[in-house]
Amino acid sequence: MAAPFPILLCHLDELADGAARGFDPAGCGQDSILVVRQGARLHGYRDLCPHYGDTPMAWRRHAYLNATRTHIVCAAHGALFDIGSGACVRGPCLGQALTPIALTVDASGDVLLTSD
Ligand code: FES
Repeated sequence: MAAPFPILLCHLDELADGAARGFDPAGCGQDSILVVRQGARLHGYRDLCPHYGDTPMAWRRHAYLNATRTHIVCAAHGALFDIGSGACVRGPCLGQALTPIALTVDASGDVLLTSD
């Protein structure tokens, strides 16, 4: 049964600026979305690399960024993705993009997933 939306992910204070974090909103035991915070902006995507379509991208929990934190990286074959657009900028899925998710931050600072 699908959870009703919106789904509370965390409070904004729990997302470090410049860092990424994975979430398991469906409670399936594995993160299915990732969120990157850049100042006041949040960028959220499904944790699925477009190279193979169904491959989770982190080699360990929350490890979605490259070493310099300039791009989202897929651990399987090293594809790099623009944080803001999700577009692959280097790697085997060049020209493809991560699938965005709908996020909002409410007045209390709660980060909410607003649709599937
Ligand atoms: S599965 Fe992500 S780059 Fe190959």
